Amino acid sequence: MRAVLCRRYGPPDSLVLEDMPSPKPGRGEVVISMRAVGVSQANVLIVADNHPNKRALPFIPGGEAAGLIKEIGEGVTAFKPGDAVIGAGKDGGCAEEVLASVDRLYLLPEGMDFTQIVGAGSYATSLHALRDVARVKPGETVLILGAAGGVGLAAVDLAKQMGARVIACASSPEKLDLCRQYGADELINYDGEDLRGAIKKAGGDKGLDVVIDPVGGKYADPAVRGMGWGGRYVIIGFAGGFVPDLPLNLPLLKGCAVMGMSLHRLAQHDPQAAKALRADVIRLLAEGKIRPHICATYPLEHTADAMNDLRLRKVLGKVVVVAGGA
Ligand SMILES: NC(=O)c1ccc[n+]([C@@H]2O[C@H](COP(=O)([O-])OP(=O)(O)OC[C@H]3O[C@@H](n4cnc5c(N)ncnc54)[C@H](OP(=O)(O)O)[C@@H]3O)[C@@H](O)[C@H]2O)c1
Repeated sequence: MRAVLCRRYGPPDSLVLEDMPSPKPGRGEVVISMRAVGVSQANVLIVADNHPNKRALPFIPGGEAAGLIKEIGEGVTAFKPGDAVIGAGKDGGCAEEVLASVDRLYLLPEGMDFTQIVGAGSYATSLHALRDVARVKPGETVLILGAAGGVGLAAVDLAKQMGARVIACASSPEKLDLCRQYGADELINYDGEDLRGAIKKAGGDKGLDVVIDPVGGKYADPAVRGMGWGGRYVIIGFAGGFVPDLPLNLPLLKGCAVMGMSLHRLAQHDPQAAKALRADVIRLLAEGKIRPHICATYPLEHTADAMNDLRLRKVLGKVVVVAGGA
């Protein structure tokens, strides 16, 4: 089988495609014939060795893989060969065959599209951020940075469904137009406008109730300054390239909370909550309540192109790597 390998840290172009022996499932493990795998900004950062989730070389990059079970290991009773599943591999998912533990494997409803369920991966992040961390209430004002990205667009979609007034911030008219299609009430082009002034205007006298921040960088400071009394600022990631400093007087003056979240850590500290969250996203997709925007699919051999698009801010919604005719 073929797999994408990161043999040295660096830009996506340093990835190589290699033939490898098929993985053999051990006790409590299965092998998935991959049909679709999510690649995200986190994968780009991990390949560059610029992410807290460090991986020892060599490794297979990529997120959760969806496909059909090829083989089951000893003691596996809840799954059988041929089942459609999604799961996190022992390594990343950018390989034709992915070894996964049943602890982190989910059966998919009949007929569910592999590309769509993989594209819905960011909804788990945004659902947790909005529902469990920020506890958004109807009528609240939610500002989303990087709103046309994977996490951002899912947050626009979900926040709107929760009854929030949604302010989407992104870097181009095309990206903002997509946010509008997903229900954003107000749009800010943060590369063309004075972000601090635009947030102050959009937040009105009350200020922002919630900020969803997967970007950090230079956008975080104006967003914190736009918070209203009792607001919640949720830190998700630093796609903007650096971890900004936060003047600690601001949360004091605004009586607001600055909260971090990490699905990776959630799975370590509260695996049941992480599993329930994943199941929620599968259910929402099956019920047609969420609609991941897939802007492009790439064959496995073009995984680096998918990652380069993310790195260069070209992606609207999600990119997905596919194999075996997904
Ligand atoms: N905490 C968690 O559990 C968790 C879970 C998933 C992801 N994350 C993190 O969240 C962040 C976003 O992930 P994602 O999958 O939504 O990424 P994405 O799809 O690439 O979206 C990120 C957005 O950030 C903006 N951006 C600003 N400066 C950028 C730069 N220099 N390079 C790339 N993008 C830049 C881009 O929008 P504009 O061009 O409009 O600015 C882009 O759409 C990543 O840091 C990831 O590691 C965290």
